[in-house]
Amino acid sequence: MFKHAIVRKPARRFQEGITSSNLGKPDYNKAVIQHSGYIETLKKCGLKIISLIADETFPDSTFVEDTAVVNKDLAIITNLGVSSRRGEEVEIRVVLERFYDNIEYIKKPGTLEGGDILKVDNQYYIGLSKRTNKEGAKQLKVILERYGYSCITVQLVNVLHLKTGIAYIGDNNLILTGEFINNPIFNEFNIINVDKDESYAVNCLKVNNYVLIAKGFKKLINSISNLGYKILEIDMSEFRKMDGGLSCLSIRF
Ligand code: GLY
Repeated sequence: MFKHAIVRKPARRFQEGITSSNLGKPDYNKAVIQHSGYIETLKKCGLKIISLIADETFPDSTFVEDTAVVNKDLAIITNLGVSSRRGEEVEIRVVLERFYDNIEYIKKPGTLEGGDILKVDNQYYIGLSKRTNKEGAKQLKVILERYGYSCITVQLVNVLHLKTGIAYIGDNNLILTGEFINNPIFNEFNIINVDKDESYAVNCLKVNNYVLIAKGFKKLINSISNLGYKILEIDMSEFRKMDGGLSCLSIRF
């Protein structure tokens, strides 16, 4: 069960962040409202929220997930894969030091972002992406194996992060889209394939007794409901414009 989540309010400069989308500029006020909705939803899942004030130095700093990989044993502070985001991890580290005795670091030339890291029980999948390089993946593997976890790397082709296209919601259920469909690495799972028109919603989040999913993706919501999950929908329109998904907005532990 998760007990805590770290979140950070979007910066006023949010719309200056990195994006590959063609959905237009995000509306800051709307993003703040949606962020509050996200926090309320995490509270409904039973989490205590550690809410950081906006950091205007970093337009992408609301996407805190990329700054750390955490589990019950340790926190690993990442070295982000783009220079405009390096430094976002500093305040996150200070927060995590309050909760963890074991803190490890991804060091240059290694780069790694939390969005590329998918945990399935004691197994980690590490996406090799434009943000997470082989050296970063190797460092993470060495650290996690010391704590009894195993790791498999997954080469990404088109998606920004591994979790842009994959989510694990427990009970062997893996949600997939695009380049991950038919990838033999995931053969052992019960696969929920998601059509291209709903691919944004793949980045959903199992938080305790609920699955959180971006609002408005009916086919995926039906598929997940049919498996017996309780669903909470969250409006993510402004974060989507900046390539952000549900998992990106928090660090859960
Ligand atoms: N806009 C989020 C990212 O590119 O990291």
